Amino acid sequence: MENDLGEWRVAVIEWRDVVKIFPLRTKGATRALRALDGISFGVERGEIVALLGPSGCGKTTALRIAMGLDAANAGSVVVNGKNVTGCGHDRGMVFQHAELLPWYTALENVKFGLRMKGVSEPFLTETALRYLELVGLTKAAQQRPHQLSGGMKQRVGIARALAIDPEILFMDEPFGALDSQTREVLQTELLTIHAKTQKTIVFVTHDLDEAVVLANRVVVMSAGKVREIIPVELDHTGDVRALRGSPEFALKRGQVWETLHRVDSVPPGHS
Ligand SMILES: Nc1ncnc2c1ncn2[C@@H]1O[C@H](COP(=O)(O)OP(=O)(O)OP(=O)(O)O)[C@@H](O)[C@H]1O
Ligand SMILES: [Mg+2]
Repeated sequence: MENDLGEWRVAVIEWRDVVKIFPLRTKGATRALRALDGISFGVERGEIVALLGPSGCGKTTALRIAMGLDAANAGSVVVNGKNVTGCGHDRGMVFQHAELLPWYTALENVKFGLRMKGVSEPFLTETALRYLELVGLTKAAQQRPHQLSGGMKQRVGIARALAIDPEILFMDEPFGALDSQTREVLQTELLTIHAKTQKTIVFVTHDLDEAVVLANRVVVMSAGKVREIIPVELDHTGDVRALRGSPEFALKRGQVWETLHRVDSVPPGHS
């Protein structure tokens, strides 16, 4: 893959002409819904990339196939040179709706992921508590999912994914269910974690500001296709609030907004 400077870089993860078809039953008839209509793009090591686009355009499907939870009908996702054929500890995912085990406490939910990775018992609780603290849930560690708010459940999901320490982190609208203050705290936290660990992060968002504030590149999708990839050359290492108030941010936001509305008006099936 050639970047904007004309340098050749190796993509750590690459979607190659990925097609996903779901059967769609309407009024007794079944037709094929092309949820992904041949998407191709790569993500470099250490990059943060946002997938942005209207509801139903295929963002979650693109992540699920890369995570190994669903299979593509055609094309492939390649991670570190190997085709994805299933889940692996090199990839972690924060789901759009935190899928927690209902009979486990918040702490046990985070420990569960670590145990699956083979972390030994003495370190389990210590590590899980550290990540719960990171997302501000120390006091809720012993509560079960039905006792937690939507935002709190989402934060347990984030702690669980981060605790596993995967090389690549997929996040499906990770902050969607949070109030704006908590959202900003966690956005800053994510950038801090990224600065420390240089993880490769691919996240989905509906929120234009969130895409521009966090991502190095924004992949604009509509109707199962990648319409445009916009580089965001902003300093993402500082304070999220300060960045949001800067003129550079406003300029880039305007560009992404314009692209999003232009591609959104493309009728389905039209390339
Ligand atoms: N398991 C499934 N069975 C049938 N159709 C599906 C399935 N999963 C997704 N779809 C369809 O595929 C299309 C893309 O869905 P996807 O969930 O990837 O969209 P999205 O961009 O994540 O939307 P949102 O922003 O609302 O979460 C939609 O039309 C959806 O109805
Ligand atoms: Mg989705």
